[in-house]
Amino acid sequence: MLLVTGTSGALGGAVAARLADHAGLLRGTRAPSGPDDRLVDFDRPETLPGALAGVDVLLVVSAGYAEDDVVRARHGAVVDAAVGAGVRHVLYTSLAGAADRLTIALAHRWTEARLADAPLDVTILRNGLYAEVPVALAVGFTAQPDGVFAAPWGDGAVSVVHRDDLAEVAARVAAEVHDDVRAGRASRHAGRVYELTGRARLTGRDVAALGGDRYEAAPLGGTWDALAAGVPPYQVAHAASIFATLGAGFLAGGAGDVDHLEELLGRPARPVTDVVRGVLGSRGVPGRA
Ligand SMILES: NC(=O)c1ccc[n+]([C@@H]2O[C@H](COP(=O)([O-])OP(=O)(O)OC[C@H]3O[C@@H](n4cnc5c(N)ncnc54)[C@H](OP(=O)(O)O)[C@@H]3O)[C@@H](O)[C@H]2O)c1
Repeated sequence: MLLVTGTSGALGGAVAARLADHAGLLRGTRAPSGPDDRLVDFDRPETLPGALAGVDVLLVVSAGYAEDDVVRARHGAVVDAAVGAGVRHVLYTSLAGAADRLTIALAHRWTEARLADAPLDVTILRNGLYAEVPVALAVGFTAQPDGVFAAPWGDGAVSVVHRDDLAEVAARVAAEVHDDVRAGRASRHAGRVYELTGRARLTGRDVAALGGDRYEAAPLGGTWDALAAGVPPYQVAHAASIFATLGAGFLAGGAGDVDHLEELLGRPARPVTDVVRGVLGSRGVPGRA
């Protein structure tokens, strides 16, 4: 059987929806409601042996909304449980190499290392930043005068991707791995680290143009108080790291970077313009780091 975790969330839910017709699919979530749902709560490791009984292939959707020590404990628990349950192949949704300087990368790299040390076949799906993330953070935590998109991005650009593309790749790769394991053949995805970033790059001017606005580079200094008042402490650090890295120009990725997104999709990446316009249309709603 193939178990996908986090199926009440946006990414896990989209992956499970794409796999709805795949024989042997199980949905793992803290809120099970259907016959193919299994209770999966990484904060309660006692839920994991039952959830993983009979599972050959496990797609772990990262559960990153917490302090790093909590995230490490969550992901460590699921790796241990997968080994204990005899899971053959684990896929993990990580973070793109282009985002390595971000504080959120730490827990992802730690999880990748834990998986590399485990007696399992492993596939790492290194997801780029969702297009909505940097835009929602700017909109939520920088004053937005009329006719202006203001953000502490300086002249930096950020490489972003459409979450639906990431869900599609995860579903395809997981289904193929599951077919391979059931057929008793080696999977071409075993041992692979896929960079999934696409080609979209957004500068502040690009975002402003999509909203019919003018771009105004905001100072980093004014942002911390708004963040501190609006999100939990760990998200202040993560959001600050996104802004600072973006402004320094280290989130743009490069033309020569390895990117497996379109190769695995078998088509061009989805444009992110509608996602960006959707966030701009909801100005004033705080984003999450
Ligand atoms: N690449 C990016 O730009 C980016 C941005 C934000 C987040 N992320 C990461 O990608 C993940 C999926 O993103 P998303 O958009 O689907 O986020 P989301 O809609 O907020 O969903 C959060 C996910 O975390 C899972 N989760 C939380 N606590 C858990 C626990 N104790 N045990 C097991 N699962 C737990 C939830 O599973 P259930 O509710 O089904 O139990 C859900 O799948 C996030 O959790 C985060 O680690 C990536």
